[in-house]
Amino acid sequence: MSTPVPGKPVYNVKNPFIAHLKQAYDLSTQEAPKNTRHYEIDLSGSGLEYLPGDSLAVLGTNDPILVIDTLAALGFTGDEVVTHPKGGEAPIRQMLTEYYLITEPDKKLMAAIIEKTGGESVLAPLLDPEKKEELKSYLWGRFVIDLLLENPTAKFEPQEFCGVLKKLNIRLYSISSSQKAVGEEVHLTVATVRFTSHGRERGGVASTFLSRIDSSIAIPVFVNPGKGFRLPEPEEETPVIMCGPGTGIAPFRAFLQERKATNARGKAWLFFGEVSSKSCSFYKEEFDAYLADGTLSRLDCAWSRDQAEKIYVQHKMIEAGAEFWAWLEQGALFYVCGDASRMAVDVDKALHSLIETHGGKTSEEAAAYVEQMKKDKRYRRDVY
Ligand SMILES: Cc1cc2nc3c(=O)[nH]c(=O)nc-3n(C[C@H](O)[C@H](O)[C@H](O)COP(=O)(O)OP(=O)(O)OC[C@H]3O[C@@H](n4cnc5c(N)ncnc54)[C@H](O)[C@@H]3O)c2cc1C
Ligand SMILES: NC(=O)c1ccc[n+]([C@@H]2O[C@H](COP(=O)([O-])OP(=O)(O)OC[C@H]3O[C@@H](n4cnc5c(N)ncnc54)[C@H](OP(=O)(O)O)[C@@H]3O)[C@@H](O)[C@H]2O)c1
Repeated sequence: MSTPVPGKPVYNVKNPFIAHLKQAYDLSTQEAPKNTRHYEIDLSGSGLEYLPGDSLAVLGTNDPILVIDTLAALGFTGDEVVTHPKGGEAPIRQMLTEYYLITEPDKKLMAAIIEKTGGESVLAPLLDPEKKEELKSYLWGRFVIDLLLENPTAKFEPQEFCGVLKKLNIRLYSISSSQKAVGEEVHLTVATVRFTSHGRERGGVASTFLSRIDSSIAIPVFVNPGKGFRLPEPEEETPVIMCGPGTGIAPFRAFLQERKATNARGKAWLFFGEVSSKSCSFYKEEFDAYLADGTLSRLDCAWSRDQAEKIYVQHKMIEAGAEFWAWLEQGALFYVCGDASRMAVDVDKALHSLIETHGGKTSEEAAAYVEQMKKDKRYRRDVY
């Protein structure tokens, strides 16, 4: 959390600012395999401040249809009154909508079902500490409702059921705007998580919440500072290289808005990657304008499905390896944002590889060079 400033409101998970949507639109077209959207959220009157590299914590609510279906599976009307852990009482419909997590069943719910079914449920063996992988694979793609429907003899009282649920938690989104450019607004770039599993269409809590709402709906938010994911001072000549495929582009749109607003001096190079130039050219006009006015020195796009073989950002880095190496030797900062499990790993390998090739180094020397970059805070990652 940022240091409290006397007289300024402090927003956090216990006291979020209630923001509202200003506007939202699709960044991807219908042809894209997944929907990615741009959101502009109004922060008027909040006094909220953020820097490029920060993220916004968003507390969404559950899909109303999933709430209705879960209540039906429980045999509840939804009007049953339960106690609110924060004090007072509320209908269980409201609690399942706003307060409890109904998309991620866990061991507490499983144990309660096992107890109620006299150990006959298929869930019982999965709680064996030796069966962690089986448990993970069983829970993958299942919501609370699935466990209820698969175990119809497990009957709950409303209050008792709330007692086996976890609290709905915030999701973080890299901020994709600079306050110097947009004032009392914050912009986000969000991939809407939708998938089908066990015969049911499903959605991620926060990304589908954002995709459903209009300007009348409250969005509880607060700023999560991006430790270390910061631009150099605008008067510095330090070049910046940004690698942000998919929604990883978000902080770099903020970086570029900030660079333009502050007339930043150093060079800037952006690597972006998505499936296709036709369906996923996020922020194309903006980036073209930045190229034209010098805010951006170079843009390399990797369209993974526009040809038979996959082309990813790391292939573009290797292709441009000599120049990449030259920028590194000029002291460039290298920023990576987006998918942690595959992209960031492969981009890291590409970085080592181009340092070996163009820096004339052994793999050990390249690893030492990258280690030094990390120590000098020249290799900065915000991956998820
Ligand atoms: C620092 C940080 C910055 C981030 N910035 C961004 C950003 O700028 N833009 C962005 O879009 N995201 C960003 N994220 C990710 C974001 O926080 C959420 O994790 C993401 O939007 C999903 O949240 P959700 O609530 O919609 O889905 P959740 O309710 O969290 O559901 C996601 C879960 O659904 C399940 N699932 C997903 N697909 C399938 C499938 N095919 N089959 C079975 N189960 C599946 C998985 O268990 C997965 O973990 C960021 C994360 C971090 C930590
Ligand atoms: N862990 C996973 O398996 C997984 C998978 C998808 C998404 N996600 C998560 O879903 C969220 C949203 O994803 P996103 O919208 O940011 O986009 P994304 O799914 O990360 O895709 C963006 C681009 O990156 C490409 N890509 C795939 N594998 C890559 C790799 N190893 N190296 C470099 N590029 C690669 C994709 O190509 P292709 O799709 O054509 O291969 C696509 O062109 C993120 O939170 C991400 O972490 C996770």
